[in-house]
Amino acid sequence: MAKARDYVKRKSAELGRPMTFFTQTFGCQMNARDSEKLLGILKEAGYEEGTDENSDFVLYNTCTVRENANLKVYGRLGYLSGVKRKNPDMMIALCGCMMQEPEVVAKIKKSYRHVDLIFGTHNIFKLAELLYERFMEKKMVVDVWEGTNEIVEELPIERKYPFKSGVNIMFGCNNFCSYCIVPYVRGRERSREPEDIIKEIEGLVADGVVEVMLLGQNVNSYGKNLEQPITFAELLRRVEKIEGLERIRFMTSHPKDLSDELIETMKNSKKICSHLHLPLQSGSSEILKRMNRKYSKEQYLALVEKLRAAMPDISLTTDIIVGFPGETEEDFEETMDVVRKVRYDSAFTFIYSKRTGTPAAAMPNQVPEDVVKNRFDRLLKEVQDIAAEVVKRHEGTVQKVLVEEIDTHEAGFVTGRLSNNTVVHFAGDASLIGKIVDVSLDEAKGFYYMGSLVK
Ligand code: 5AD
Ligand code: SF4
Repeated sequence: MAKARDYVKRKSAELGRPMTFFTQTFGCQMNARDSEKLLGILKEAGYEEGTDENSDFVLYNTCTVRENANLKVYGRLGYLSGVKRKNPDMMIALCGCMMQEPEVVAKIKKSYRHVDLIFGTHNIFKLAELLYERFMEKKMVVDVWEGTNEIVEELPIERKYPFKSGVNIMFGCNNFCSYCIVPYVRGRERSREPEDIIKEIEGLVADGVVEVMLLGQNVNSYGKNLEQPITFAELLRRVEKIEGLERIRFMTSHPKDLSDELIETMKNSKKICSHLHLPLQSGSSEILKRMNRKYSKEQYLALVEKLRAAMPDISLTTDIIVGFPGETEEDFEETMDVVRKVRYDSAFTFIYSKRTGTPAAAMPNQVPEDVVKNRFDRLLKEVQDIAAEVVKRHEGTVQKVLVEEIDTHEAGFVTGRLSNNTVVHFAGDASLIGKIVDVSLDEAKGFYYMGSLVK
C-alpha cells in the first residue's frame, strides 16, 4: 500500500492534478459490498473519486450469474479502448465473478489487450499490491483465485450510505444448484467468526449506521463449519443486542436450511425487519429436483405457511427462473400456482441463462426462446398484479421509515423504506436522511407509496 500511495502521489505531482478513479458494479449485494472495500483501498492509495469513465483508473466489478451481464462488460470494454487512446496513462481493471472464469480471462487477454489489471473474487484485499505491480511491470497483471480461502479482516471501506451498510457474514456457496455458476467462481462456503462480525457492526454503529444487511449466499447455513459452530439464529440474537443498531436485514435464505429456531428468533426480535427473501426458483417439484434445490413445491409452501403463522404480516419476496431445461407448460403452471398461493410483495424474475460448466448447461430439452419469453411475460404480469394488491395492505397506516435519499423524481421529496422494504416517497428535506421517522402511507402506487411525514 505504501508503495502504491507513493507512486500515485508522484504521478499526481507530475500531472499537476489529483489522480481519479471510477468504479462500476454489476450484480448482487455481495459485489456492492466488495466495491465499497475496493473504493476504500483506492482512496487510501491517494486516488480521488471521478465522475465517469474519463478517469485515470476505471474498475468494473463484474457479475456472471447470467450471460447478459458478461455481454455488457465486453460492450463497455469496447467503448473504453477509444477513451484510452486519448489518455494512454489510463488504467482499466476488471474484477469480480466473471474474472474467475478461465474462458473469460483468455478472451480478454486475446481481444481486449488494453485491459491492465484482472483480479478475482478472493483477492480484492490485494488491490494496492496489484496496482503497484502494474505500475512497475507495464503489462497486463492477472491474479485470480486458485484456492485461497483466506478471509481478510479490517480492510479500509468507503460506505455508499453513512447510515446503512452490508456486512459479509460468509463467503462462497456449497449448494451447487445445477443452473448456478456462483459455487465455481466464489468457491466453497466460509463463515466469518461471530466475534469479528459483531466487532465490525459495533464499529459501524459507532460511525452512524442504524441498519445492517447481513450478507451471504446462504445465510441459513452460517456458522456450521466454524471451529466452534454457531447457528445463524444465534448470530442474529447477538447482533440484536448491539445498542444503537435499529434494523437488521439479511440475504439470502435458502428454503432448505431455514430452521424453526430462525423463525422463532425473527418473531421475537424487535430489530429484524419484517421481510424475508426466499428464492423459489421454480414451483415444479420435478424441476426443483433437477435444479438440485433439495425441497419440493409442497415443502416450500409448508414453510411459507409456518412463517406466516408465526409472523402474519411478514413480506415475502423471491427469485424465479423461467425456462429451465425441460420446463413444460405444466411445470410452469406449478410456478404460477405458487406465486398465486404465496402472494409475494415482489419477485425478481429471470430468464434461464445457460452457464458453461454448470450441470444444467448439458441438460437436454433447452426450452425455445419464444416459449420462454411468453411464459416470462405471463409470470411478470401475475407477479406485478399480485404485488400491487399485496403492497397496498398498509395503505392508511402510519409506519416507521428509514429515510435514505432525496427523491430523484420530485423536488422537495425524500425516499425511504419501511421495515418490510417497501419504498415510500414523502415531502421532506436532506436533514431527514438517515433518520427513522413516522410516515403516514397515504396512497399505494403499485410497488411503492406516496406518504406524508407525521410530526
Ligand atoms: N439463469 C437465470 N437466473 C439465474 N440465477 C442464478 N443463476 C441463473 C441462471 N443461470 C438467478 C437465481 C438466483 C438469482 C440471484 O439469480 O434466481 O436466486
Ligand atoms: Fe447459486 Fe444455489 Fe448457491 Fe444460490 S444457493 S449461490 S442459487 S448455487
